[in-house]
Amino acid sequence: MTTVDEIKNRIDIVDLVSDSVKLRRSGKNYLGFCPFHDNKRTPAFVVFPDSGTWRCFGQCNEGGDIFKFVMKKEGWDFAETLRYLAEKAGVELQPQTEEQKEQDEQYDRYRQLLEEAVTFYQHQLTQAPEGKYALNYLLQRGVTRETIETFGLGFAPASWDVTHQYFLGKGYSELDLVESGMVTQREGGGVYDRFRNRLMFAIRDMGGRMSGFGARVLDPDDVPKYLNSPQTPLFDKGRLLYGLNLARKAIRAEDQVVIVEGYMDVIVPYQAGFLNTVSPMGTALTEDQMRLLKRFTRRIVLALDADAAGEKATLRGLEIARQALDHSAEISFNPRGLLRYEARLEADVRVTTIPEGMDPDEIVLRDPEEWRKIVESAKPIVLHVMETLASQKDLDDPKVKREISTRVLPLIEDIPNAVERDAYRQRLARLLKVDERALVGDGSPSRTSSPVRRRPKEQQAVEVEAMPVAKTSELLSRSLEKHCLRLLLQDPEWLHVLDRALQKNGLNRMDVTDFEYVDFQILARLIMQSLEQDRQEPQAYLTEHIPEELTSLVDELRNDPRLENKNAQKLQEDMIRTLMKLRLVRVNDGIQQMRFLMEEMQEAGETGINPYQDNMLHYTLMRSRLDLALGRLIQLD
Ligand code: UTP
Ligand code: MN
Repeated sequence: MTTVDEIKNRIDIVDLVSDSVKLRRSGKNYLGFCPFHDNKRTPAFVVFPDSGTWRCFGQCNEGGDIFKFVMKKEGWDFAETLRYLAEKAGVELQPQTEEQKEQDEQYDRYRQLLEEAVTFYQHQLTQAPEGKYALNYLLQRGVTRETIETFGLGFAPASWDVTHQYFLGKGYSELDLVESGMVTQREGGGVYDRFRNRLMFAIRDMGGRMSGFGARVLDPDDVPKYLNSPQTPLFDKGRLLYGLNLARKAIRAEDQVVIVEGYMDVIVPYQAGFLNTVSPMGTALTEDQMRLLKRFTRRIVLALDADAAGEKATLRGLEIARQALDHSAEISFNPRGLLRYEARLEADVRVTTIPEGMDPDEIVLRDPEEWRKIVESAKPIVLHVMETLASQKDLDDPKVKREISTRVLPLIEDIPNAVERDAYRQRLARLLKVDERALVGDGSPSRTSSPVRRRPKEQQAVEVEAMPVAKTSELLSRSLEKHCLRLLLQDPEWLHVLDRALQKNGLNRMDVTDFEYVDFQILARLIMQSLEQDRQEPQAYLTEHIPEELTSLVDELRNDPRLENKNAQKLQEDMIRTLMKLRLVRVNDGIQQMRFLMEEMQEAGETGINPYQDNMLHYTLMRSRLDLALGRLIQLD
């Protein structure tokens, strides 16, 4: 048994959830108000003790096991949640090895070195005569002495050795200096200071621990304009966000984060009271960074400069996204990538445009109120793209209408929520002044002219296979989830086949939310990620990234004897069918639960708008699409 299973066996989900949600019995399940969305009128949160899972049938329309519940509630990642639940359950986790301990101690030592470097550079800036020019430069850009202190700004002297001599004098070794990224090695041996005659920005991790430096030129002839610490275990640009240690409290309090592009664009707004600002460090946003932020808020505002948000870049972004077939692991401010992250991370990403030729720091200095308005006017990505494309165009021209709709519709189709998708289609129809029906994607099953007739006998065969009487639907969905992953693990590239089959049938691509059990969710995410990176073969990537707790599960799935000697096409069909069945089970459960909730509402004498209607409609639509798609698969057999 895996550690995860062991913990699940020991912790009763009803007890765990009851700590924060008031539950009452309802049949063999439990019912309460969902803790993840605001609604104190209609209980839509159901706990299934049999399977150890929960689901919100209201606005969230989301569910999972105890791990998912704690992760979502506390904003923790899997490792943190595992530690917490293991302790609660009295399950012992693998202790740290000697090697890991040594490694940790070394990192602590490098952090200590970097911490002392902050003090050293700051002293050079504020006390040494050599730092006078840099200090004046900062003051001129509107930075106060207090802010210099808060952000740990400093000055690196214009010398090849002053800095490292200072640290050798303090007992650090040359190796320490190399490993922490403070010096560069000369080809013939020896080292020289990496940062010379530059303004220094201390970069800390979310917990405030030193990670590295960003360094801006003072002499306009020097290149590059910004030099960062080299990639080290401590300084991983893709996993850090500048300013997050200072901003995190405000991000949570305001339930919003503003992402800007440069160091100064974090510092100057912060000084003016805009405390929830962070920036990446010269790279595109990564999913890791988005996930970091999601621990504090789901509402993300991107403040892009006029160029990046402008029409040209938007269009280019779209083209590139298309060509790359969603292979890029970075967001790079392209709308389609952003939407995918938004959906996957269940975030709310908005985009705002900054006046041309200005950076956020300059706007804040000119007029803080103007900056506040710019942030407030951020729009959802799809609307942003729609409006950018439409601006300065003749919307009465049919060719223009067509061009805009072909560019925007794929973005709309990527949105997983049916209600939201419809709303955007309506917006687009209104903007282009066309009938909304003209905008419904081609090939959607609801429009097929001759409905596929099912052959009753074979249909029955599927039912029998899919619904053994002894299994409750929760147990069934667990075995379907597992089987789907078993097949995907044969060859992660098959995910493309799966997604194409789903989309052809008007269904959304596979997503982590197709999986309810956290170990399966993690695997599903890894499989998706293995295709988004291109440094390694997907299988190798998986092997390297699978968390220790899941290795035995993966071995079991990969080496399942039942799959031997089956040809790839058969296995792929099996995979497609399995995922569709999984969705069908879930949709049927949903419909049943929804009916139940509606009855309860009527019994309680509640009148007025039926809060479950949208969901019910969505489920019914999904059910008919799935029925149709599964019917087609059977015909192919
Ligand atoms: P910009 O070139 O827009 O600089 O780069 P900036 O932030 O406006 O800087 P100031 O206002 O002139 O001082 C935006 C960000 O991209 C990264 C840095 O993080 C910078 O803040 N960058 C830029 C690099 O990492 N390397 C570079 O050579 C240039
Ligand atoms: Mn700037």
